[in-house]
This record gives sequence, structure tokens and C-alpha cells, in this order.
Amino acid sequence: MSNDGVNVGRRRFLVAATSVVGAAGAVGAAVPFVGSWFPSAKAKAAGAPVKINIAKVEPGQQMIAEWRGQPVFIVRRTEEILANLKKIEGQLADPDSKQSEQPAYVNPELRSIKPEILLLIGICTHLGCSPTFRPEVAPADLGKDWVGGYFCPCHGSHYDLAGRVYKSQPAPLNLPVPPHHYVDDSTILVGVDEGEA
Ligand code: FES
Repeated sequence: MSNDGVNVGRRRFLVAATSVVGAAGAVGAAVPFVGSWFPSAKAKAAGAPVKINIAKVEPGQQMIAEWRGQPVFIVRRTEEILANLKKIEGQLADPDSKQSEQPAYVNPELRSIKPEILLLIGICTHLGCSPTFRPEVAPADLGKDWVGGYFCPCHGSHYDLAGRVYKSQPAPLNLPVPPHHYVDDSTILVGVDEGEA
């Protein structure tokens, strides 16, 4: 039985990952190719850190990397996005991430080391689908109050552009922030805290 559960979860993840790429194409947001940064499959399976070059991520864009078989979302946030995060805090379940998973050196509201760069594990905290990047403001399907964020297609959880979940959603917690640090301005090492590399 437990094997069935794993397989179903895996299938959901693959379907969701495909829809993420489709959605990005639909709004014209390019997803920079990052394959050459990945270590070998063997190294990944062992949990090796992953180096990610974020230089090509334009303001307002997301790129998707991979660490330990999980999608890692990286977004370069604009001033407008950062300002909107403040406006919706009253609608969030855990706005300062007291219950959620993130390293201590990450700002608990912005959920990042640098305000403009968001880095999250792209796995919904409900049942493990991969949420869709929806940075548009007030799109017809998400309503006039939507200021950009993530929408999980499996059971409808909504997160903001800091990965913080809204109140009364199927998902109980914010999207996790993995351990990471900056090697230089455009290179992030995911999987280790600074000084541990
Ligand atoms: S898995 Fe995301 S809402 Fe259920």
C-alpha cells in the first residue's frame, strides 16, 4: 500500500511540473535552462549541494532548478512585488513563518536572504503537488485581489510571492526554504548553510 502512495505522489508531481512549464509559456515568461549546473544523478541521489546560476532570471521571472529530486523555485522579485507582500499579511496563515520550515538566517516575512531573490522548495505542504507560478496581478481566474503568488492545481491552495500560504487553505504551512547561501552575486549553493560548504 505504501508503495502505491509513493507512486501516486510521484505521478502528481510529474503532472504538476508539466503544467508549470505550460503556464510559464502561456504568460511569456521564459524559464532559463539550468541543466548544465546539475551534478550527476548519483551525486543528487546522495543529497549533494547544487550550484545555481541566477544571472539570467529577469525581474518578475521564475526559474526552476532541482535539488534532491525536488523542484527549487527562484524568483527575482520587483519593488512592486515586495510592496505587495506587506499589503496581504492579514490574509496569511503564518505571515512571519513561525511554524514553517526555513533557515534561521532567512528573513521570516520576505523569506529570503536578499529581498529581491526568493528561493523555495516547490512542493505544496498539503499533499505534495508542485504549485504553479502566477505572478500576474488580478487575473480573471484568481480574482481582482490577487497580487501574484503560487496556486496549487491539485486542491486549490494559494501562496504569496514569499511562498506564504493564505488562511483557510488545504495546505497548512508556507512553502519550505532550503538551506542555501550566495557563492557570489549570481551563484547560489543550495543544500548547505554558509561556512559548511
Ligand atoms: S497538494 Fe497542493 S493543495 Fe493539495
